[in-house]
Amino acid sequence: MLSKKIEKALNDQIRVEAESSQIYLAMACWAEVKGLEGVAGFMYSQSDEERAHMLKLVRYVNERGGHAHISALKAPNVTFKSFKEMFEKLFEHEVFVSESINELVHIALQEKDYSTHNFLQWYVAEQIEEEAMARTILDKINMIGNDKGGLYLFDRDIQQMTVSTAASESPE
Ligand SMILES: [Fe+2]
Ligand SMILES: [Fe+2]
Repeated sequence: MLSKKIEKALNDQIRVEAESSQIYLAMACWAEVKGLEGVAGFMYSQSDEERAHMLKLVRYVNERGGHAHISALKAPNVTFKSFKEMFEKLFEHEVFVSESINELVHIALQEKDYSTHNFLQWYVAEQIEEEAMARTILDKINMIGNDKGGLYLFDRDIQQMTVSTAASESPE
């Protein structure tokens, strides 16, 4: 049985993951409209992953005798100055999510809820990967600068990245 405090904290995280999914869906749309097919594909798959993160939490809360709340979401940014700015926002958002997960882990320990603590380790590992990936992408973008040919190659290469992360993912 989950304590009320843990249930509330997990429900807050459900909203964070749902909002992440919407944020990346909005980024996918912006990139698709701009003709960046590879970037759009990458963002669509990020959006799907965030929904999977949300669902995993939903199922956990319900299975442990809590009630997962599906709430209204904050509207995401829908336009960006540049694709570089968009990826900076993605990185900042992942750092924010990591902090949110860390806080949740802290609450689980305070409440002596070791099952939830154990369950959350998957998210801790996932955030390390996501932050590292966002950092790698930003490094590439900084290398490209304003080079159009570089952007073309980046858009092509990021499709490869989507394929490899999808292959290494095991949601469940
Ligand atoms: Fe997530
Ligand atoms: Fe994420």
